[in-house]
Amino acid sequence: MSLDVTDLLHKRVRDIPDYPTPGVVFKDITPLLADPEGFSHVIRALVDRCAPTEIDLVVGLEARGFILGSPAALALGAGFVPIRKAGKLPARVLQETYDLEYGTATVEMHTDAVAPGSRVLIVDDVLATGGTARAAVELVRRAGGTVVGLSVLLELSFLNGRERLSDVVLHTLATV
Ligand code: PRP
Repeated sequence: MSLDVTDLLHKRVRDIPDYPTPGVVFKDITPLLADPEGFSHVIRALVDRCAPTEIDLVVGLEARGFILGSPAALALGAGFVPIRKAGKLPARVLQETYDLEYGTATVEMHTDAVAPGSRVLIVDDVLATGGTARAAVELVRRAGGTVVGLSVLLELSFLNGRERLSDVVLHTLATV
């Protein structure tokens, strides 16, 4: 099997039409996660793209950002911090609410999760409209952290998410 990371992602991330709603094509990374060689190669590529940036913390976005961000944090020698959907974290939180096509969504991070001055890499599987990632950047900055990068496996370029993140260094392993 070719170990070109972009080819690998195109092979191992499958399209699920009409999920979660009609007209949406969901990008399902579970085939990649089930392939130990592929999973490991993608995490290595994600980490390598950030070098030689110093990183204290990896922030993972619920839920697939947890799966990708945890091994990335260990590989970088960094800590891991979850950003979760509202109501899931037990201690005091900072909140950010952002617009969806219909309605809003809220994400949260513990107030003490990012020490002021920490250098933070944000990790997620997919960049779509950029709303989730933008909210994560705001949470980290409000806590006093410095966002040194945002790493995603897949960028859905037709949704223009990167336009909302023009002040962030974006690392994308594959674009569709
Ligand atoms: C997906 C994906 C990103 C987000 C991207 O998560 O994993 O976190 O949407 O979309 P955006 O760029 O338009 O904000 P989802 O909301 O499906 O959450 P889940 O991982 O908990 O299923």
